[in-house]
Amino acid sequence: MSTILVVGASGTVGSELSRLLASAGHTVRKATSRAPTEPDQVHLNLLTGDGIDAAFKGVDRAFFLAPPGHSRQDLLLNPLVDAAAARGLHKVVLMSAMGANADEAAPLRLAERHLEASGLAYNIIRPNWFMQNFNSFWLHGILSQGQILLPVGQAKGSFIDARDIAAVAAALLVSDRFNGQDFDLTGPEALDHQQVAAVLTQASGKDIGYTDISPEQMREGLLAAGLPADYAEFLLLILGYFKAGYAERRTDAVQLITGQAPRSVAQYAADYKAAWV
Ligand SMILES: NC(=O)c1ccc[n+]([C@@H]2O[C@H](COP(=O)([O-])OP(=O)(O)OC[C@H]3O[C@@H](n4cnc5c(N)ncnc54)[C@H](OP(=O)(O)O)[C@@H]3O)[C@@H](O)[C@H]2O)c1
Repeated sequence: MSTILVVGASGTVGSELSRLLASAGHTVRKATSRAPTEPDQVHLNLLTGDGIDAAFKGVDRAFFLAPPGHSRQDLLLNPLVDAAAARGLHKVVLMSAMGANADEAAPLRLAERHLEASGLAYNIIRPNWFMQNFNSFWLHGILSQGQILLPVGQAKGSFIDARDIAAVAAALLVSDRFNGQDFDLTGPEALDHQQVAAVLTQASGKDIGYTDISPEQMREGLLAAGLPADYAEFLLLILGYFKAGYAERRTDAVQLITGQAPRSVAQYAADYKAAWV
C-alpha cells in the first residue's frame, strides 16, 4: 500500500479520487490551502509554496492539478514536480485539460513538459469539459433563468463525468502499466448544449434550455461573478475552442484504463438531478 498526496483533495475530482484510494487501502494525504481540520489533511498553498516540504514527507505517489482561477498553471505546478523529483517519488499523475498540448507555449503545456522532462514515472491525463460544470459553474443560469448560458453555438462536446476522471487517476497512480503515457479522457458520446439541456430536463423535471450567448455577455457574467480578468479571458479562449468543434472528439481511454465504460450524460443527470430543482 502507498502513501499518496492528493492536491485539490476537497475538489470535484480530488474528493472522489481520495475516496477511491482510501477505500482501496492506501494512505491518502489530502492537500488543502486552508487550515487543516482533519488528521489526513496537510496544508499546501500553491500560490505561495507554503507547506510543500511537509506535504511530501513520507509520500511515494502524488496527484497534481492546478486550481481553477489561475492562468499561469506552470508557476503553480512546476514546484510540485520539482519537489516530487527531489524526493524520488515512484509515480506522479498530472491532471491537465484536453487541448492543452495543442500549443507548446500554453502554461498548462509548459507544466506537462516539465513533468515529462523530470525523470519521474508519470501519466498526464487531459479530461474534456466536466459534466459537473452543469451543477457548479453553469448552475446559476440554470437556476435563475432555466437556461444553460454559453457562447458555444451548436458545437458538440464529449463531456466526461469527474467520477470517471477520478477512477482513471486512481488506477494510474498505483500501476506502472501505462508509465510515460498521456491520455485524453472523454465521455461516451458527443452532445451539443441543446441536447444536454434536454437530458437535464428529463432527469430533473425542471424545464431547462440552452441560450447561445455572445462572448461579450459571457465575459460580463464571468467578471460579475468575481473571476480575475486574465482567467475570464482564458475561459473565453477555451470556450472558443469548444465552439470551433475541438471538444467533440471521443477516446476509449476510460475503458482502457479502468475496464469500465465512462458514464453517460443521462447517468450523470440522474445522479445529480437534485441540483437543478
Ligand atoms: N471543469 C472542467 O470542465 C475542466 C475540464 C478539463 C480540465 N479541468 C481542470 O480541472 C482542474 C480543476 O479540478 P476540479 O474541478 O476537481 O477542482 P475544484 O473542484 O475546482 O477544486 C480545486 C481544488 O484546489 C484547491 N485549491 C484552491 N486553491 C489552492 C491553492 N492556492 N493551493 C492549493 N490548493 C488549492 C481547493 O482546495 P482547498 O480549498 O481545500 O485548498 C480545491 O480542492 C483545473 O486544473 C482545470 O483546468 C477542468
